[in-house]
Amino acid sequence: MSALRWADFFCQAVDNWRALDNSLELCQHGGIVITVNNLSLAFGKRFLFKDVNIQFNPGNCYGLIGANGAGKSTFLKILAGEIEPSSGGVSIPKGLRMAVLQQNQFAFDEYTVMDTVIMGHKRLYQIMKEKEALYAKEHLTDEEGLRISELEGEFAELNGWEAESEASILLDGLGIDETYHQRLMRELDGGEKVRVLLAQALFGNPDILLLDEPTNNLDMESIAWLEDFLFDFKNTVIVVSHDRHFLNQVCTHIADIDYGTIQLYVGNYDFWYESSQILARQKRDEKRRAEEKAAELKSFIMRFAHNAAKSRQATSRQKMLEKLDLESLKPSNRKYPYIAFKPERPCGKSVLRVTGLNKSIEGVVPLKDFELTVEQGDKIALLGDAGLKTLVLQLLAGEIKFDSGSIEWGQTIQVGYFPKDNTHLFKGSENLVDWLRSYSKEDDDTFIRGFLGRMLFSGDETLKPVNVLSGGERVRCLLAKLMLQGPNVLLMDEPTNHLDLEAITSLNKALEEYDQVLIFTSHDHQLVASTANRIIELTPFGFLDRKTDFETYLRSPEIKLLRDKIYHGHKRLEL
Ligand SMILES: Nc1ncnc2c1ncn2[C@@H]1O[C@H](COP(=O)(O)OP(=O)(O)OP(=O)(O)O)[C@@H](O)[C@H]1O
Ligand SMILES: [Mg+2]
Repeated sequence: MSALRWADFFCQAVDNWRALDNSLELCQHGGIVITVNNLSLAFGKRFLFKDVNIQFNPGNCYGLIGANGAGKSTFLKILAGEIEPSSGGVSIPKGLRMAVLQQNQFAFDEYTVMDTVIMGHKRLYQIMKEKEALYAKEHLTDEEGLRISELEGEFAELNGWEAESEASILLDGLGIDETYHQRLMRELDGGEKVRVLLAQALFGNPDILLLDEPTNNLDMESIAWLEDFLFDFKNTVIVVSHDRHFLNQVCTHIADIDYGTIQLYVGNYDFWYESSQILARQKRDEKRRAEEKAAELKSFIMRFAHNAAKSRQATSRQKMLEKLDLESLKPSNRKYPYIAFKPERPCGKSVLRVTGLNKSIEGVVPLKDFELTVEQGDKIALLGDAGLKTLVLQLLAGEIKFDSGSIEWGQTIQVGYFPKDNTHLFKGSENLVDWLRSYSKEDDDTFIRGFLGRMLFSGDETLKPVNVLSGGERVRCLLAKLMLQGPNVLLMDEPTNHLDLEAITSLNKALEEYDQVLIFTSHDHQLVASTANRIIELTPFGFLDRKTDFETYLRSPEIKLLRDKIYHGHKRLEL
């Protein structure tokens, strides 16, 4: 069957479940919101993008995917005008407003939460501040009086009177309640800051919304809220994420960065994944006949059409399918890093004893009389409040001082620590080899490069400065460092953040096979379920500590009763 006939078939099938009002609305938008023309970008000899041509249409939600280091963040920066391409360009019709989810969580520390959100609409915020300054004056000149009336006019036009209440609704939706709205950003913890920055990006209903890994540091409830929000959001969204569930919930299209180009697929992540798997299989077996290929794809499309009840499809789907040239599609370029943590020496009998540990932060005591005895073979997942979990790991790693109590590590113990925030470790301009060498007893280049190679850095890639690394590449470097150091106790705070699916799979396997001591936090359900043999839930009123796996912990009626007592039945269990 030709590509055109598949397209007809597919369109007929999806017509059964396509919401009519949705498609009408998309037709009315018309036009194109972003056109990328012959875009190329090179860093030294390496082309990140070569002659990329792609269009983004209104009303669609594009999931931008690709391996760590493929160029996703860079592509968003080019769209936002923060990076100039080497050649080619991006055009966006005049008057369209683009908003970006800010990556730097600390950029607004000196502003209130409310101001930070309203800053999402630059012009409105300028007007508000100029107005405030004028009204604060005792006497106004005629000119200033005139200026105020101009500003008031523009303010009303931009719906300024509704600004605070709209910002409040957004903040409430993200779980930042009213008591926080006038506080300074620096008083908020990481997860709360991300939510405020999300509210900032969403404020004022931008025409184009760019989001770079928005679900990192969000709890499950906020992720669900964001999914619903993006699902209902009428304008164009381009979102980078490694979270498969999230991509499936929100995307109408997948833009896959691979081989220096961007390939557009109509459908959600599962559609992309399955079709690319089929293609990869077929490439491996060149002998397979063309009819078989057609039949397999056709049956997949049929299954997809039945399953994707929630998927919001765009009008461009038909065109895309017509253009789909199977012969030119390459199987994915994704590679799996090799991760294995081998201890220099195994743990002795005594591992860790923590007694009566207290820590206060700015007058509040988040950690009170904390007790913990860790034994050989313990693989402990910490659950509960994110800030508290990070605090416990930082104290155990010796990164911060405690007020009273004691932390005693056994004689044989060598601790390896993986922090959640690693920015301070990658500020320098030394290359990857020198960076890793600084953590190694062994100086030899080949030895160091061996560890980098396992983490997929080879050739010129090992000579770039560490301060240009992408989020996932930094994590791969940290994992190389931990492998090289050979610890027998691993302390890890959200190690899967930023990693692509291939790297997460490798890390998961390595942690399952690691037979020493592991104390970690992760919001990755599968990682926790497949590695932990002990669960410690940190609550504001004490600690639940059980030698059991995660699924048993989740189902335990005894734990449920205890949690209901602690939280008065109000809090769902989160990772
Ligand atoms: N100034 C530069 N010089 C050399 N290489 C650079 C420079 N800036 C970025 N890179 C490289 O470009 C590649 C793309 O980086 P980018 O941050 O866009 O990746 P990404 O797809 O967002 O990855 P991740 O999933 O890990 O966030 C990386 O390999 C990065 O090291
Ligand atoms: Mg990135």
